[in-house]
Amino acid sequence: MTDVSMTVNGEERTASVPPETTLLTVLRENFFLTGSKLGCDVGDCGACTVLVDGIPVNACLMLAGQAEGRDIVTIEGLANQDGMHPLQQAFENLASLQCGFCGPGVIISAKALLEENPDPSVDDIRDALSGNLCRCTGYTKMIEAVQDAARIMRGESADEAA
Ligand code: FES
Ligand code: FES
Repeated sequence: MTDVSMTVNGEERTASVPPETTLLTVLRENFFLTGSKLGCDVGDCGACTVLVDGIPVNACLMLAGQAEGRDIVTIEGLANQDGMHPLQQAFENLASLQCGFCGPGVIISAKALLEENPDPSVDDIRDALSGNLCRCTGYTKMIEAVQDAARIMRGESADEAA
């Protein structure tokens, strides 16, 4: 067993795990943050996407030990006492998800995009979500939700023309 410590959604967390344990397993099974999903387990689907020092990462491919001392943000870290993150609100408003399994990873990837690019084009959004597979939707409503959230975060109204 090895001890791993990291900041998760602003809190210092430590776990004692076998060295081959992935970051996703630690988040889900040690820290009980089950928003990040286990889909393919091989880096294809993006359901496990979390931010590591602000960069979207497939948590199924990262060892927990590689997250030592890093800053991790999961979907559970987006809402605060004032309510949902604008991305979460926009996805809800537009009913952008169906089964929802891909949603946490999609929203985390979109968050990383909007932090880097507050006014993304449709192509920018498609690129940012290209590692997140969705078996239910056609992505159109997701892209609209990211555009709406971007407008809200820029201080515009959601239905204002981009
Ligand atoms: S579960 Fe990690 S990429 Fe699919
Ligand atoms: S909403 Fe079902 S996989 Fe995306």
